Amino acid sequence: MRIRLRLLAVGVVVLAGTLALAGAEKPDGAALFAKRCAACHGLDGKGLSEKKTPDFTDPKWQASFKAADYVVKLKERRDRANPPASVVGLKDEEIQAIVTYIRTLSSKKK
Ligand code: HEC
Repeated sequence: MRIRLRLLAVGVVVLAGTLALAGAEKPDGAALFAKRCAACHGLDGKGLSEKKTPDFTDPKWQASFKAADYVVKLKERRDRANPPASVVGLKDEEIQAIVTYIRTLSSKKK
């Protein structure tokens, strides 16, 4: 029993250390996009016709996209009384990382 408790304690310390390390890393915009946004925007960001979402890889769309304004908009959405599931609980840095990722989605890169 004692040993089991001690093992548990070690496990908690290791887990806490891992979480602290993970928290120190920069958020992964691509992974967040895949998890939070791809259901409606497609994994490649090209949009889904059935969802009527825009093509983020279209240079014309990119030209009209105001990334900094969109960061503000997403934060406002997150801070609403009932935020949409896609942005609920996101940290500021995570929102920034997602929008930075969208910026990289230009068809010219392929
Ligand atoms: C439930 C479906 C859905 C999810 C999830 C979703 N979107 Fe959208 N999004 C849409 C639709 C539909 C549009 C186009 C119509 C509109 O502008 O509201 C859109 C438009 C956009 C636009 C174009 C600018 C604008 O506001 O018109 C951006 C940028 C965008 N989404 C980013 C995101 C990001 C980033 C996420 C994840 C954090 C996300 N979306 C999650 C459905 C979704």
